[in-house]
Amino acid sequence: MLTTQTAADLRRHVSDWRRAGERVGFVPTMGNLHAGHYSLIDIARRRCDRVVASVFVNPTQFGPNEDYSRYPRTLERDREGLDQAGCDLLFAPTVETMYPFGAANTVKVHVPVVTEPLEGAFRPGHFDGVATVVARLFNLVQPDVAVFGRKDYQQLLTIRRLVADLSLPIEIVAGDTLREASGLAMSSRNQYLSAAERETAATIHRTLLRMRDSVAAGEPVGAVEAAANAALEAAGFRVDYAAIRRAEDLAPAGDARSGLVGLIAARLGTTRLIDNLPFV
Ligand code: PAJ
Repeated sequence: MLTTQTAADLRRHVSDWRRAGERVGFVPTMGNLHAGHYSLIDIARRRCDRVVASVFVNPTQFGPNEDYSRYPRTLERDREGLDQAGCDLLFAPTVETMYPFGAANTVKVHVPVVTEPLEGAFRPGHFDGVATVVARLFNLVQPDVAVFGRKDYQQLLTIRRLVADLSLPIEIVAGDTLREASGLAMSSRNQYLSAAERETAATIHRTLLRMRDSVAAGEPVGAVEAAANAALEAAGFRVDYAAIRRAEDLAPAGDARSGLVGLIAARLGTTRLIDNLPFV
């Protein structure tokens, strides 16, 4: 596997592949890779001739009181894992490469509407940072296909909207959420949890399953949300939201009984966890 920090090297390799008629897949990450990330590499590998992954802890998507400085950085281990997963090129740029005019002075990409509720309301500016860095990464890598996890459902919708609205010639593919045996969605942030917190954290997935079953049984959406909130608080979480929305655009569910998704964001101690479940 090739590894580079520079945009020039990245471009050289990718343009060689493209000239040879090869299809290029791309998986952007912030590193500290786990099986969930590697499952996205696998999806890219099955669809493409070449796979590029990026590892970049993006400062512009973290709020002032979030975990940018303590976010786990494990580049050497990530490199080995990506190599084993069959990745062809790891792009691990510096902040200066990604933001040549400085992170504070970058051109910003703002995706409206789908970024406004839920995560957007609790993490102001977060999706501007995500859309900005992903747009920049797309321009640098110029992939045919890019793979994103359903774990970050609102992020996936944001990227789909970005690509559709700017007519970027990139196919966006979604990967299912990989979970621990307990149901806890794999996440780089799980390592902030103590052993006891990790057990409690599995309540999030159990709550989402219960929300889905309650909706299927005909309970009103508002009552299901309230019960989920109460169950999470009782388990020791501080809940940002436990919501049921239209899967298509995250608008309120209204009278709809199908095409819905349940989404939870909740804090255990200082760790903020998110998860979601499509209700089929
Ligand atoms: P990161 O949190 O590292 O996630 C990288 C990709 O892995 C995202 O598409 C995310 O949805 C996916 N992912 C995370 N946990 C997963 C799991 N348990 N199962 C399957 N996929 C999972 O998301 C980001 O980085 C950043 O916001 C980024 C898009 C790289 C922009 O900086």
